[in-house]
Amino acid sequence: MKSSETTNQIFKEIQDELLKGSTQKGHPFHYFTLATVGLERLSRQRIVVLRKVSDKLQLSFYTDFRSKKIIHIKENNKVALLFYNPEKLLQIKIEGPATILKGKSIEETYKQDVPEQMRKAYTTALAPGTPLEDSKPIEYLNQENHFCVVEVTAYKIEYLKLRDPEHLRVRFSKHDDDWSGEFLVP
Ligand SMILES: Cc1cc2nc3c(=O)[nH]c(=O)nc-3n(C[C@H](O)[C@H](O)[C@H](O)COP(=O)(O)O)c2cc1C
Repeated sequence: MKSSETTNQIFKEIQDELLKGSTQKGHPFHYFTLATVGLERLSRQRIVVLRKVSDKLQLSFYTDFRSKKIIHIKENNKVALLFYNPEKLLQIKIEGPATILKGKSIEETYKQDVPEQMRKAYTTALAPGTPLEDSKPIEYLNQENHFCVVEVTAYKIEYLKLRDPEHLRVRFSKHDDDWSGEFLVP
């Protein structure tokens, strides 16, 4: 046994931290790095905002359906998420399949939970990442939007906390609906 904490307590800490990240803007877990690997087999990373975490550890973020990350997820839905809390020297790595959600209930989310000034980002006439022609203003669509939600269902989680006298590293894996944890050499 590497620590006085049990793996269950550490799992609970992970859940609590992620929940805070989704609900508190100032929490370090409010932003995370999303890594995708498309057909080019090169890892691509970017920061996104953690919007929701379910009891079953499904983590959601919002994005534009035309973005590169969506192209990658359509090609290969296995993604990796990276969270870091500098105050606690705590790193959480999460892996799992991503599901792209679009449709009526997602439209409702867009209308209710996405503030007006943020909605504009999903209504550009050209796809995000398209080169802008010199001095041409960005054009926006009036009716249409390209908002979608991506939900990542965690199946592997790795916890690492740097501390004295020994660091603490635990790997959690999901089998059916149950999580099991094991301490690792940090
Ligand atoms: C602080 C911050 C938060 C961001 N949040 C999001 C987000 O929630 N969703 C998103 O699609 N892009 C977000 N971005 C932009 C992405 O990092 C990225 O540049 C963009 O989505 C294009 O990525 P892609 O071309 O790899 O799809 C954020 C960027 C920053 C700096």
